Amino acid sequence: MPVTVVVGTQWGDEGKAKVIDLLSRDHSHVVRYQGGHNAGHTVVVGDEKYALQLVPSGVLYGHVTPVIGNGVVVDLPTLFREVETLESRGVSCARLRVSSRAHLIFPWHQAHDALAEGKRGADKIGTTLKGIGPAYADKARRVGIRAGEVLDAAVFADTVRRRANEENATLVALGGTALDVEAIVAQFTDLAHRIAPYVADTVNELHDALEGGADILLEGAQATFLDIDHGTYPYVTSSNPVAGGACAGSGLGPRDITRVVGIAKAYTTRVGSGPFPTELVGADGEPDTLGQALIDIGHEYGTVTGRRRRTGWLDLVMLRHAVRVNSLTEIALTKLDVLDTFDEVKVCTDYRLEGGMLRGYPDRSEVLAQVEPVYATLPGWKTSLRGASAFSDLPPNARQLVELVEKNVGVPVTMVGTGPERDDCVVRG
Ligand code: GDP
Ligand code: IMO
Ligand code: MG
Repeated sequence: MPVTVVVGTQWGDEGKAKVIDLLSRDHSHVVRYQGGHNAGHTVVVGDEKYALQLVPSGVLYGHVTPVIGNGVVVDLPTLFREVETLESRGVSCARLRVSSRAHLIFPWHQAHDALAEGKRGADKIGTTLKGIGPAYADKARRVGIRAGEVLDAAVFADTVRRRANEENATLVALGGTALDVEAIVAQFTDLAHRIAPYVADTVNELHDALEGGADILLEGAQATFLDIDHGTYPYVTSSNPVAGGACAGSGLGPRDITRVVGIAKAYTTRVGSGPFPTELVGADGEPDTLGQALIDIGHEYGTVTGRRRRTGWLDLVMLRHAVRVNSLTEIALTKLDVLDTFDEVKVCTDYRLEGGMLRGYPDRSEVLAQVEPVYATLPGWKTSLRGASAFSDLPPNARQLVELVEKNVGVPVTMVGTGPERDDCVVRG
């Protein structure tokens, strides 16, 4: 299995990091291929909890080369804070590679993110305010600054100064506040000096590694339904988390990929705005009793922004679509243990619209906002899944849910999450 892609199948926070950590044991390189520090990836090892935003989740293993691929937008202050925290906890980041083609995030991107959200008012996307959208917009406008540019310090400083002045003019015209240009130049001159040793031609390095027999894991952030093309536009992020994005964002080709693992939570969560058919909310828009139970038991608060996540039942219409657009070979079903105390568990199998059944996932958010979920109701298992080490250890009612998912979406569930810790997982042979 030389190249494996791990991709979120819902709206993020499915537990990708835990599965990546698990799969990292058998891989030599773990490559982030899109997104930036809008991601919050949590790995729990014994009493230690690691919250990662930019550094690939394979970093905890000494044999793994963590790579920030060309498709990522990199916030250098965050990256160094993360590296310092990891190193202070005994995790070496010396092997980290940052693609020379990756675009950098600057303070004006965050300022534009906040201004744009402010202008949208009640219609805001609910972004993480990390400057992700504006950084990708600059990349598309061909005015972005790439990591490789730090290698010529003098030119880099001039470019940052020029771009900062240009962006100040735009920020002020939009009603924002001008940034301190020379403070930014000084800060990024120092950061450029520090990042330079990590900057590499990761595309050729990964191909060389592959030719030498390496096993490479491509780590998706965000998820299929936050994808800028396939998600619930405009309530999406500004990159392509889908498996196809793993090629563009790493430089490996489609024929290099041998395995695509979709991560699905046993229920659904979403942070920020946008349609959510199976959401468990009352008429007041607040979580209902079961929705609140999922928040409390599943600790559904964002790691990056601390926002409460919206919660709802598992949606197999979404999952079937995720199988299609990502060519999933399998699914890892995480956080099944969160449902341990539920009397019954619902799973959405279809969408009804204006009296008829919809074929396929709607292509427009306006339509998605109107669908009515059709549910299958399964009995709960009312017992703890913790400690299960084989699929046959799971209670029959939990196995029934897993089998319903497999039958409905057409690919096997190869892993089942039974708790937050590294080994709280049942892997099916
Ligand atoms: P990611 O963004 O997809 O990597 O997911 P996050 O790390 O943001 O959120 C997943 C949360 O669920 C983290 O706090 C994980 O420690 C936790 N988690 C992952 N898998 C499981 C599981 O199977 N059971 C439970 N109870 N928690 C899990
Ligand atoms: P991980 O990798 C959940 C959401 C934001 C917002 C939308 C756009 O941890 O699964 P952005 O700042 O990207 O422009 O925000 O996307 N969002 C996430 N939601 N998990 C994430 O990452 C997310 N990254 C962005 O809440 O709705
Ligand atoms: Mg997350």
